[in-house]
Amino acid sequence: MPDNGFMALVVDEINTNVFQRSIKERKIDELPPGEVLIRVEYSALNYKDALSARGHKGITKKYPHTPGVDAAGVVEESNSSLFSIGEKVFVTGYDLGMNTSGGFGQYIKVPAGWVVKIPSDFSTKEIMIYGTAGFTAGIAIYEMQRNEITPDKGKILVTGATGGVGCLAVAMLSKAGYYVVASTGKNEKKDFLLKLGAKEVISREDVNDTSGKPLLKKQWAGAIDNVGGNTLSTIIKSLEHRGVIASIGLVQSDKLETTVYPFILRGVRLIGVDSAESPMDYRMKIWNKIFSEWRIDNPEKLVKECTLDELDKEIELILKGGQTGRVLINMN
Ligand SMILES: NC(=O)c1ccc[n+]([C@@H]2O[C@H](COP(=O)([O-])OP(=O)(O)OC[C@H]3O[C@@H](n4cnc5c(N)ncnc54)[C@H](OP(=O)(O)O)[C@@H]3O)[C@@H](O)[C@H]2O)c1
Repeated sequence: MPDNGFMALVVDEINTNVFQRSIKERKIDELPPGEVLIRVEYSALNYKDALSARGHKGITKKYPHTPGVDAAGVVEESNSSLFSIGEKVFVTGYDLGMNTSGGFGQYIKVPAGWVVKIPSDFSTKEIMIYGTAGFTAGIAIYEMQRNEITPDKGKILVTGATGGVGCLAVAMLSKAGYYVVASTGKNEKKDFLLKLGAKEVISREDVNDTSGKPLLKKQWAGAIDNVGGNTLSTIIKSLEHRGVIASIGLVQSDKLETTVYPFILRGVRLIGVDSAESPMDYRMKIWNKIFSEWRIDNPEKLVKECTLDELDKEIELILKGGQTGRVLINMN
C-alpha cells in the first residue's frame, strides 16, 4: 500500500469560470473508484490537456481537477485478475484526465478495461512519446490503409506537423513507407521535420485556398489534418480521386465549409477520428502496429522532458500553438 499522499497538478475554479493551476498534495483515498491503482512514471502533454488545465467545461465539467489524458506507470494495487502488482501498464483516453483524475498526478485509479500492458521491450517513457498523439496518428494511418491508400498511391499531407499528433504522423507514415509532405507554421523547424522523415516541408499558407473554387488541382492521395477550418476545406478540394482525409483536430477552427463536389466528383473520403472512445479491440489493432511496424527509430528526437513543477509554462506554450514535438512529464 503506497503512502496516502501524492503530488499532482490541480486546477481550481476560484470564481465562476476563473481557474487557477497549482501543484498540490492529494490523497489516494480521493481518487475515483477503479480496479487498478497505477503509480505514474510518465505522462504527456496534449492540446486537450491544456484546454482542461486552462478551464474548459466542454472537456472537464467539475473542478478541482487533475488533467492528463495519458499515463504510464506501474500497477500498485489491482482488483482485476488481468493485472498484477508491479506490471508496467498505460492508459490513454477514455475519461482519464477529462472527468477522471488524470496523468498529471503521481497516481491514477481506473477501470481495468482502460488499461493496456506495456510490451517488455518498451519503457513507460517510450510509450508516452506515442500516448494519445501517436495512437491518434495511428488511427488515421490505419483508416487510410483500410481505404486502400497504400504508399504507391501518392503523397500524404500532414498539417500542424510540428505538433504532437503531427510529428508522430510524419514519423510513423514515413516508417510505413509513405511519401510525406509536412505543412507547418514554423518555417524554422523544417530540418526537424525532414529528420523525422518528411520528404517535403511546405508552409501553412500553402494550404489556405481563398479562391472560392469548389475543386483545386489534385495533389494528395491522403491527408492527416490536425487543424480544421479553411485548411481542412482546402485539402478536401485538393485530394486525388478516391483520396482519404482523416479529420483529427481544430486548433485553427472547428468550422468546416465545403461543397459536395469533391465527394461526388472525386469520391473523396472524409474520415472522423475519435481516439478517446475507441473500443479496446480496435485500440489494440492500432497499438500492435505501433509496437511493431510503425515503431519509430530514435523517438527521443521528438521529446522535451519536464517535471510537474515545470509543466505550467509548457501548457501555456501549447495553447499558443508553440510546441514542437512531444512534451513528456517525468512524474518521479
Ligand atoms: N480526434 C482525436 O481523437 C484527437 C486526438 C488527439 C488530438 N486531437 C486534436 O488534434 C489537434 C492537435 O493536437 P496536439 O495535441 O497534437 O496539439 P499540438 O501539439 O498543439 O499541435 C497542434 C499544431 O497545430 C499547428 N497550429 C497551431 N495553431 C494553428 C493555427 N491557428 N492554424 C493552423 N495550424 C495551427 C501547430 O503546428 P505547426 O506550427 O507545425 O503548423 C501546432 O503545433 C488538437 O485540436 C487536438 O484537440 C484530436
